[in-house]
Amino acid sequence: MTDMSTGPAILVEGLTKSFGDVHALRGIDLSVPRGTVLGVLGPNGAGKTTAVRILTTLLQPDGGRALVEGRDVVRDAAAVRRSIGLSGQSAAIQEELTGRENLELIGRLYHLSWPQARSRAAELLDQFELTDAADRAAKTYSGGMQRRLDLAASLVGRPQVLFLDEPTTGLDPRARLGMWDIIRSLVADGTTLLLTTQYLDEADELADEIVVIDHGQVIAAGTSEDLKGRVGGDVLEFTVPDRARIADAVSAIAKIGEGEAHVDEETGVISIGVGGRGSEALIEVVRALDGAGVAIQGLSLRRPSLDDVFLALTGHAAEEEEQPAKGRRGRRRSAKKDTAGATS
Ligand SMILES: Nc1ncnc2c1ncn2[C@@H]1O[C@H](COP(=O)(O)OP(=O)(O)O)[C@@H](O)[C@H]1O
Ligand SMILES: [Mg+2]
Repeated sequence: MTDMSTGPAILVEGLTKSFGDVHALRGIDLSVPRGTVLGVLGPNGAGKTTAVRILTTLLQPDGGRALVEGRDVVRDAAAVRRSIGLSGQSAAIQEELTGRENLELIGRLYHLSWPQARSRAAELLDQFELTDAADRAAKTYSGGMQRRLDLAASLVGRPQVLFLDEPTTGLDPRARLGMWDIIRSLVADGTTLLLTTQYLDEADELADEIVVIDHGQVIAAGTSEDLKGRVGGDVLEFTVPDRARIADAVSAIAKIGEGEAHVDEETGVISIGVGGRGSEALIEVVRALDGAGVAIQGLSLRRPSLDDVFLALTGHAAEEEEQPAKGRRGRRRSAKKDTAGATS
């Protein structure tokens, strides 16, 4: 085998893909060092699954290139397929078969002998705590168990690089935490992982590096701390119960914050980055709102979350539900203000 141990496990340059006039990917760049976890964070429709499908050879890109373990996903697709595992958004398991049969079958597809396939299946069932349910049809499994089985299936071939497309979407909180534990143990074994998610806390929890994508473009990249740092210090948050006074509140505090205030029209929550001037800004905000005669509730100062990062970067929340055609994009709209000379 060629020695490809030096480059990144995944390298993506200028990747583009359109479906008709939908530009799903508009020139994505990624680099994932071996043995690390990249979190690809973005809302519904951002282009996450399209990127994963190209990287796993299921879809051809229009432009740019992508290498997995140094091999081109288009020209060397067969070799790429041998080194990867994919656990997708829609489970790839056969519902009529038992968990054990599913894994044994996949082992056979990987050209393991029957005894090898059997022992690999038993090992994975044990690792994923599915031994008790191993001989029941997969259709009787809970959502969390089906996800675990699907993930186990992607590991039968002992992939060097694993792609998980929204591994916890639709799972209840407990199953989600279970999945996080499993993902952490995989990473501890040295597997390189690319994980897509819509959940900021998931990226925060699991990823070494995070790439934020929106509308087919990378809009920010870095560690969770890097990204939080971009919000510029602490965040001040309060609620304006009288929705009619929101605009007054925003203009009253316009000169206090650093950057834009973000407004959630539905809940009346306004948040604003205040840099390192937390307590000072808190007092100024109280005075300014009092001066403007705007009543507020629940004024608090907190560390920025990845949600604030997403808002700061895009002007809309990451986890907002998909809106049909008429779309109220930007449930939380950003109130742009004149920021001339406002950088600290
Ligand atoms: N096969 C397809 N045909 C047409 N449009 C598609 C297809 N697959 C994805 N898209 C569109 O491309 C965009 C990105 O989709 P996708 O990669 O699935 O986003 P995500 O996984 O981040 O939710 C969306 O606008 C989606 O509707
Ligand atoms: Mg998707």
